[in-house]
Amino acid sequence: MTSILFRPVAIGRLKVPNRFVRSATHDYLADDRTGTITPAQLELYRRLAEGQIGLIVTGHAYVHLSGKASPRQIAIDDDSKITGLSRLASTVHQAGSGSLIFLQISHAGRQTRPGLCGQQPVAPSSVYDPVSKILPRELSTEEILQVIDWFVQAAARARQAGFDGIQLHAGHGYLLSSFISPHTNRRTDDWGGNWQKRSRIIREIIYGIRSTCGPDFPVIIKMNATDHLPGGLSLDEARDIAASLEEAGLAAIEVSGGMNEAGLGSVWPGLRAEEEEGYFVPLAATIKKALAIPVIGLGGIRSFRVAEHLLESGQVDLVSMSRPFINAPDLVRKFRSGQLDKSPCLSCNKCFNPRGIRCVQRKGLRTAGPD
Ligand SMILES: Cc1cc2nc3c(=O)[nH]c(=O)nc-3n(C[C@H](O)[C@H](O)[C@H](O)COP(=O)(O)O)c2cc1C
Ligand code: SF4
Repeated sequence: MTSILFRPVAIGRLKVPNRFVRSATHDYLADDRTGTITPAQLELYRRLAEGQIGLIVTGHAYVHLSGKASPRQIAIDDDSKITGLSRLASTVHQAGSGSLIFLQISHAGRQTRPGLCGQQPVAPSSVYDPVSKILPRELSTEEILQVIDWFVQAAARARQAGFDGIQLHAGHGYLLSSFISPHTNRRTDDWGGNWQKRSRIIREIIYGIRSTCGPDFPVIIKMNATDHLPGGLSLDEARDIAASLEEAGLAAIEVSGGMNEAGLGSVWPGLRAEEEEGYFVPLAATIKKALAIPVIGLGGIRSFRVAEHLLESGQVDLVSMSRPFINAPDLVRKFRSGQLDKSPCLSCNKCFNPRGIRCVQRKGLRTAGPD
């Protein structure tokens, strides 16, 4: 009998051919000056698509220069980026595996520096970040409306470029994540206070995208369910926020956690025992109880058997991985053919490389060819 991992699932009106998601992975491969797509990225995404991943989410693309988080990050801040991005989307579609591709869109908020984003970083409130040593500037109401429009325009460009959908990045301490966290959002106006007000910016973005792009273009989210900080986002509030986003038209949610300042981010180092794979899945399973839309489980998932169990036991509907696909973009194909039952990725985190992600455990690999 076919494993549940290879059964299709609906996200909005789309059909994902299997339950494997490539979690968004910034690859340090875009053009350094402009953020446009490079041939190295086309090659990387061709390999991911040929590897038969059901849904590929790109590394986060900044919606405006003030929200650029990293060197060589993808940009979607103006129409000139559409041509390169459409090459990326068609590379995936032409690979012939039926993979879908969603663009992840983000604004870095306070987790950047003036040298990257060209100004004093902005945030819902002026709360000092001890890691980056940045004191961000509080956004005005007019500026919040401007940020919403940047996200909506970015989604419209992604649709024009041929992406199947978009994922909002509301995790890891970036701008949308810092809005929903009571630690970083101390506002007392309509954009801060209770969870309804702290998450309003995300609902407004979803309404805007749905009215601009139509109901056939799914909006999904990667969202923190914990910041790992005292006074940060609680799981109960994350669950209520997720339910309100579903009501606003969200098509699926990927549950993550962590914030730079917490010292515990989203990319946990070190191999774990099978029973500890999926370190954010217990949070996802709690949130799933309040939702009807698909929930994507994440965090150190490495074994086929574990992934299958997470679905069969109803904890999540899809599983996502990042580092295992840096180690082997064809992992899903290898799972399907029975060549592998566990990713060889060691979770050593040595793949972060400002000259382009690469797996150091696999010798002789070129930057864009981690196969
Ligand atoms: C090199 C690298 C880049 C990443 N870039 C992003 C990103 O752009 N957006 C995002 O939401 N998460 C990003 N992540 C986090 C991953 O998507 C994922 O949530 C995390 O690595 C846990 O999954 P894993 O154990 O399967 O690697 C990145 C992780 C790595 C290793
Ligand atoms: S360097 Fe290779 S083995 Fe280490 S975490 Fe990255 S992909 Fe996995």
